[in-house]
Amino acid sequence: MAWRESYEIGVEKIDCQHRQLLVKLNEFFDACSNQQGHEKIEETLKFLKDYTIEHFGSEEGLMNDIHFPELAEHQKEHADFVKTVLELEEAVKTKGVSVLTTIKLNRTLTDWLITHINKCDKLIGDYMAEQRAKA
Ligand SMILES: [Fe+2]
Repeated sequence: MAWRESYEIGVEKIDCQHRQLLVKLNEFFDACSNQQGHEKIEETLKFLKDYTIEHFGSEEGLMNDIHFPELAEHQKEHADFVKTVLELEEAVKTKGVSVLTTIKLNRTLTDWLITHINKCDKLIGDYMAEQRAKA
């Protein structure tokens, strides 16, 4: 998946973190297409654990600063994503890497890019533009 300008919300720090995520996810998707997903899954999950703490912190801080009306709903999506990452990590730890966990992570990440970054995060940028237009 390639980065598109349309993914940008117009806040450099957040856009930069999103681009960084896409690079990492592409590495995982490539590994999956080359039947090497199982070798990448632990590294990807570890990356996601650290990344989500920093990135969701930045995004939620921004939403708080601008008084974003859908902060609570957005936070819930972040929390659900973190929960999925932790569940997958736990599954890998207790049962080892399986095709199923690899597929689940692949699906979760694809869905995250398409529905969360491309739709929900965009709303933050849209809201900021609206506020600027009103000012
Ligand atoms: Fe978000």
